Amino acid sequence: TYVVTDNCIKCKYTDCVEVCPVDCFYEGENMLVINPDECIDCGVCEPECPADAIRPDTEPGLEKWIELNTEYSEKWPNITIKKDPLPEAAEFDGQAGKLGKYFS
Ligand code: SF4
Ligand code: F3S
Repeated sequence: TYVVTDNCIKCKYTDCVEVCPVDCFYEGENMLVINPDECIDCGVCEPECPADAIRPDTEPGLEKWIELNTEYSEKWPNITIKKDPLPEAAEFDGQAGKLGKYFS
């Protein structure tokens, strides 16, 4: 499965939702997550993210993100249609440590 990671936070470009064949993205206030039970591992979303925030869960060090994608995809609503990025997207793109401050 693929997971959404730190750099989506406060950017939320949403290009990813347009290409997912199984519509498995879920939307929080500041970021999206992927439902790992629904993701078919096709990989097409990964290059679509302008913030480079989508990763295969086989990459090392993603344990926390696997947990968060699993937990919050059960709580947040499904999103399938692209919308405008968050207004501060360009400013937050690439900032370190967004998880501790802005995860929602
Ligand atoms: Fe959707 Fe494919 Fe990305 Fe999984 S890897 S979230 S199925 S586009
Ligand atoms: Fe986030 Fe990238 Fe999608 S910033 S909303 S994972 S396109």
